[in-house]
Amino acid sequence: MTTPSMLLDIHNATVFRDNKKVFDGFSLTVEPGQSTAIIGPNGAGKSTLLKLLSRELYPVVKDDSHVRILDQDRPILWELREKIGLVSPDLQQGFVPDVSGLGVVVSGLHNSIGLFHYQDVTEDQLCRGRQVLEELGIQNLANRIYRKMSTGQQRRCLLGRALVHNPDHLILDEPTSGLDLNATYHYLNTIRQLLQQGKTILLATHHIHEIPPEIERVVFIEDGKVLADGHKEDMLTDEWMTKLFKMPLKVSISNGFYQVLPA
Ligand SMILES: Nc1ncnc2c1ncn2[C@@H]1O[C@H](COP(=O)(O)OP(=O)(O)OP(=O)(O)O)[C@@H](O)[C@H]1O
Ligand SMILES: [Mg+2]
Repeated sequence: MTTPSMLLDIHNATVFRDNKKVFDGFSLTVEPGQSTAIIGPNGAGKSTLLKLLSRELYPVVKDDSHVRILDQDRPILWELREKIGLVSPDLQQGFVPDVSGLGVVVSGLHNSIGLFHYQDVTEDQLCRGRQVLEELGIQNLANRIYRKMSTGQQRRCLLGRALVHNPDHLILDEPTSGLDLNATYHYLNTIRQLLQQGKTILLATHHIHEIPPEIERVVFIEDGKVLADGHKEDMLTDEWMTKLFKMPLKVSISNGFYQVLPA
């Protein structure tokens, strides 16, 4: 199988959410292996961008405009789900509540948001699900019902779901929001391991201090536009942070992690 030249290639895209035009002439490319942090204020368009990649949103069809995923204009959805794992607030909120932790992970193999009685779940699939739970160190959640899990437990099961196909690429939208410190760093450690294994991660976050050192590219989104795009060292500066978040901010660095505080 040939390696795709682009994970994501958005050119001149217009995207509506309901009646609101969120993107107008939006362009961005991400190569496989080019893990990227997407940063921007609330409402900037980060989740909209990630939803273009997960095919939850489509651009307006027009000349001189495309959204290509893994080099394809019209990727087959179930193939895409095997190649690109997703964890997002919408997925977490919309998930069928009465599924076990093991069921959450196995549902990834069916590309569904729960497991339903009409779906045939094979012993091999259960075996793969248990393996993923074990890899993530959450075997204890196998029989826990989703709606009875904490936010962090749900999130870790959803990460298992995203990983069940062993995809090369992951979309993580605000993966640590609502997690306590322990859960955050546990989750981050897992993300770091995945990056070290060579997975490409597109991460939308507000938490600058949670950008893993392995992610080197940072894209700033503001008001539906790419404000700046470059290497983390050049991007996460006092000047840029102050401009992006419209308040005086100061950046410090420790062990490859960045921290932003009011100046
Ligand atoms: N379901 C929706 N219907 C209509 N407009 C929406 C919807 N979801 C988002 N929007 C609008 O689209 C714009 C971009 O939203 P988006 O969710 O992409 O922002 P974001 O950068 O992810 O913000 P946040 O940091 O709050 O998650 C915002 O102006 C928002 O109000
Ligand atoms: Mg968002």
